[in-house]
Amino acid sequence: MKRTLVLITLVASLSTLYAQKVNVKKEFKFAQSQTDYMLQEIPKAESKPEQVSPRTFENGKLKLVVSKDWTSGFFPGILWYLYDYTKSPKWLEEAKKFTAKIEKEQFNKGTHDLGFMIYCSVGNAYRLTKDERYKPIIIQAAKSLSSRFNPQTGVIRSWDHHQDIWQYPVIIDNMMNLELLFDATKFSGDSTFYKLAVTHANTTMKNHFRPDYSSYHVVDYNPQTGAVNKKMTHQGYADESAWARGQAWGLYGFTLCYRETKDQRYLDQANHIAAFILNHPSMPKDLVPYWDYNDPAIPNTSRDASAAAITASALYELAGYANNKTYREKADAILSSLSKGYHSPKNQNGGFILIHSTGHRPAKSEIDVPLTYADYYYLEALLRSKKN
Ligand code: GLY
Repeated sequence: MKRTLVLITLVASLSTLYAQKVNVKKEFKFAQSQTDYMLQEIPKAESKPEQVSPRTFENGKLKLVVSKDWTSGFFPGILWYLYDYTKSPKWLEEAKKFTAKIEKEQFNKGTHDLGFMIYCSVGNAYRLTKDERYKPIIIQAAKSLSSRFNPQTGVIRSWDHHQDIWQYPVIIDNMMNLELLFDATKFSGDSTFYKLAVTHANTTMKNHFRPDYSSYHVVDYNPQTGAVNKKMTHQGYADESAWARGQAWGLYGFTLCYRETKDQRYLDQANHIAAFILNHPSMPKDLVPYWDYNDPAIPNTSRDASAAAITASALYELAGYANNKTYREKADAILSSLSKGYHSPKNQNGGFILIHSTGHRPAKSEIDVPLTYADYYYLEALLRSKKN
């Protein structure tokens, strides 16, 4: 009797554990079929020839963006991840084709988003093909990004728009662009990019975080003195709230800084951010956060699957550095939730994989929709779940 009870308990706990694990093979099969569908839909979308990458599916329409949009690199990146998993020449060809459309952004000095655009596309292209042609593109993009650094502030300027609201805005998302700088130093031997990335990370660590390790979305600096003018939000619920995707960008950003520098302070910062996210009282059981942890409308407001996917991907990496099994289990649980409750039905939503993300709620834009970066980080997390 006792032995039967032990056996039942064992089977029950094993099945709970198993239920938390996503079926990576099945997910990539689905991702491929959705992307096949998307490739058919792209030529049919109401778009201009210069609109090259799918961004979202909103109001029944597949929306494409021009190469200078901050999201343009994610679709090529998705194609690279499909190639990474399948090694199929078909995905290699598509990945090369869509990457080529945005390579010119290496010269773009008008935004900080070059990491997203060039690292997710060309960075993956180099990682997977080792084609030397891609290296100078990454170095040039790092030069363009570096042109936005001001030694007085110690940070890279994020945006040039809304000059009536701020002087020198820096957003937490900017941590994601540092990966490009670290690679540029490796490729060129020029340590300037590395030093600049570290300075940006240190200044961000000093000014962007609250005592509970949540982060402000925007910190505005005085470019002459380097003083902080104000701390505020743009895409979150309120200046003092914790915008969900911003917390995920911070987690991912400090994890990658630890990878590149092995500076303990970055690991500590990433651990603190992880604790804020994972222990937050408004985090739902399925670990897919509401778009802002402090929206008073919770639970009657939209989720952000993109924040969950970014968090899962970061946690897999952080789990290795922090030697923390719980991070891996949480990342597994997030992927399991996304695969169950956040999948698009087949051949719908323009071919996006995940639904239920929130882009810019205060602007009433992209609320409860698919977003290309949710899919990108979902595939990245699935790949990392196999390796970790
Ligand atoms: N980097 C812009 C966003 O996360 O919406």
